[in-house]
Amino acid sequence: MATQSDFSLSYTEIIDDPYPVYAAVQAADPIFWSETDQIWHVLGYAEVMQCALNPAIQPVVSSTDPLIARLANSSQEHEIIKVKQFFENWVSELSSHAHRRVRRALLRSLNPRQIAQWRPRIQALADELFASVANEAQFDFIKAIAFPLPIMVLAQLIGVPESDLYLIKRWSDEIIGFQADNQSVAALRRLYDAVLELEAYFEAIIESRRQNPSDDVISQVLQTGAVSDEELISNLGLFVIAGHETTTGLLGNGMLSLLRHPAQYERLLADDSVVTTAIEEFLRYESSTQFSGRIAAEAVEINGHQIAKGKRINLVWAAANRDPAQFDNPHDLDVARQNNKHLAFGNGAHYCLGAALSRLEAEIIFTTLLHRLPRLEFAVDPPLWVQSQQFRILTTLPVQLYQCPNKIYQ
Ligand code: HEM
Repeated sequence: MATQSDFSLSYTEIIDDPYPVYAAVQAADPIFWSETDQIWHVLGYAEVMQCALNPAIQPVVSSTDPLIARLANSSQEHEIIKVKQFFENWVSELSSHAHRRVRRALLRSLNPRQIAQWRPRIQALADELFASVANEAQFDFIKAIAFPLPIMVLAQLIGVPESDLYLIKRWSDEIIGFQADNQSVAALRRLYDAVLELEAYFEAIIESRRQNPSDDVISQVLQTGAVSDEELISNLGLFVIAGHETTTGLLGNGMLSLLRHPAQYERLLADDSVVTTAIEEFLRYESSTQFSGRIAAEAVEINGHQIAKGKRINLVWAAANRDPAQFDNPHDLDVARQNNKHLAFGNGAHYCLGAALSRLEAEIIFTTLLHRLPRLEFAVDPPLWVQSQQFRILTTLPVQLYQCPNKIYQ
């Protein structure tokens, strides 16, 4: 039986299957203080919701980042100021008025109505990717479909040439790399260079959109006049970081869930009108963002626990998504599940800005999969996960045509 001490931010042994540990810890204590992590872990659905909706519980900002705090007022001060500003402009780090202002401007191009207009373009990209594997007896679903689609879509959405995608990806990898391993000054220097290059790149694009507006995110946000160029550039960087691999996670985890539950796969093959609820179920069942950090800006009480001002809080969306108090049979995959109020996109003021986009991408990918490819099965099981507790994303998912002697799938 797992105990609180089995759940820690540095405990990578549970990456292959975190759910038994979540379930045991959640049943014992849906919210608890971890001495090891110096953080309040919140795993119960009701408790996670209370935290997400409480305005006194706010995002962790980069000024509390250990390296940034350590080097402030040092010889790296110039780099620190630049890098801090870059992070502090992220909508995900803002609170109250500033958050509402920037969020509203960004949402102008990411709301469900606007995103719906991208359907034909996303479908064309999906068709292209599926055509590339149509004659393959075996292929890697991540490499062929789940990884390329979200980044191709983001390129079109932001309005940059596809050939520049991997340049932007390199900068964003540098930014994520710093956040993941932020103890070295060398990493800070690389981050600073990446931020300068990203800024120079987008400054030129912004200038050209000012002269010739189009229907992309940059043009639409510029039209609001509500954010500065610096704020826009930071958040374009955030989109690439927040919107790429999370969506790869949704597509890959959805495919994995079908392969591991053949009866549910058959159900979708028989009736593709279930795709919409299936996608919500993939999001709930294998959430690509397992948790997000917060900080108590004031002392708060959650479910009888006193959380002191300044304490860190970890909202474990993925554990809440399997809470039996909220979901019937939470460990079963049910592609037709009703009333599925999962928290895979978070909740409250910071609810995911890319939710409509990734839902549309998933709908197009899974509908196209059901129509264009015969039934697939694992070529290799188990597949490989990214070695992160926070992000549940597959690095490979080799699949092959289903070897069923009695049935021909078209
Ligand atoms: C399946 C794909 C995705 C998942 C699972 C996901 C998950 C999340 C979660 C859990 C949050 C809340 C974080 C928190 O409260 O601390 C969030 C916020 C956010 N997401 Fe996503 N996301 C996905 C796709 C995207 C895409 C495609 C974009 C951009 C185009 C995006 C941009 C953002 C932004 C900007 C925020 C911060 C919003 C704010 O703070 O107001 N996400 N996402």
